[in-house]
Amino acid sequence: MSEVLVDLLSDTLTRPTDAMRAAMAAAPVGDDVFGEDPTVRELEQRVAGLLGHEDGLFTPSGTMANQLGLRLHVQPGEELVADSLAHVLRAEMGAAAALSGISARSWVADHGLLDAAQPLALMVPDGGAYQVNTRLVVVENTHNFGGGTVQPLDQIQRLRDGTSPHGIAMHLDGARVWNAHVATGVPLDAYGRLFDTVSVCLSKGLGAPVGSVLVGSRELMARARIWRKRFGGGMRQVGILAAAGLHALDHHVERLAEDHARAHRFAEAAAQAAPGSVDPTKVQTNIVILEVAGAGWTPAGFVEQAAARGIRLYPVSGTAVRLVWHLDVDDTGTDKAIAALVPLLEEGPPAA
Ligand SMILES: Cc1ncc(COP(=O)(O)O)c(C=O)c1O
Repeated sequence: MSEVLVDLLSDTLTRPTDAMRAAMAAAPVGDDVFGEDPTVRELEQRVAGLLGHEDGLFTPSGTMANQLGLRLHVQPGEELVADSLAHVLRAEMGAAAALSGISARSWVADHGLLDAAQPLALMVPDGGAYQVNTRLVVVENTHNFGGGTVQPLDQIQRLRDGTSPHGIAMHLDGARVWNAHVATGVPLDAYGRLFDTVSVCLSKGLGAPVGSVLVGSRELMARARIWRKRFGGGMRQVGILAAAGLHALDHHVERLAEDHARAHRFAEAAAQAAPGSVDPTKVQTNIVILEVAGAGWTPAGFVEQAAARGIRLYPVSGTAVRLVWHLDVDDTGTDKAIAALVPLLEEGPPAA
């Protein structure tokens, strides 16, 4: 493979900046399993406050934060509902079933976009002795495999109004809720308060090397702390990582708008060259799902040709590839991606 010139594989690839590394080196630390790491506590409380919740819990990954959220609300043998492209269903290695005995049903959402009527129609609040009880609805905002889709606040509110009377909980997979906030101006706590628990990632667009936070009520977070230890996620002098998260919150949230603008610029260029490949109006944040099958490519073939031109991408489905903008891709990188990939869309694959 050629040298990677522009890495659009994922926003998890970012390396900590020098300033972030300095903040990590200077962080006061303690044993977090005993709740004695001051930097971790600062991060947990800050993220909880931002999202309008009482308390938070630092976790090594977004997957663990999500899985703790699910475990709090659903007992083995009960179910959650989530859309069919949700990260919790597609990309957490069956953890809900494997670790917590949770069964799941899903609905198909266009670009991952929430239409509250769909989950509300699926819910079985009281299945009696015959049907599985629904205990939780999971919403992902922004939606990763949907293409960075922002969830409309009014639909989330409708879902809350429909679930609350039945005692059905709501968990937000907010790995990229920062992007939703920056794209729309909706305050983080306006999203957060509509959910019982929220997981957020510091290691995606925010550029920290590791770490997520789960937020909820004090009581729920006390229970989550026990489950985190049980899942093997109790960490010790981990303030050095929490410090990266605090630095990211101070310096890397508002700049997400730059990633959004670059992703949109790419989408405009791709749509001009190959109109069916992407709808720029659907590119709301930092992710572009590019349909390459219409131009005659298999996703694997397109990824290979892109790699030969120094651009790294991810084949996301049987027809499409995914491109993700982040801290380490600037305007020049975006120009290079356009120059390398648009001709591939225009020309299609070489004749066999
Ligand atoms: C929407 C979403 N949720 C959760 C996660 C899980 O995060 P992690 O890779 O830290 O486990 C990801 C990771 O890409 C994601 O995109």
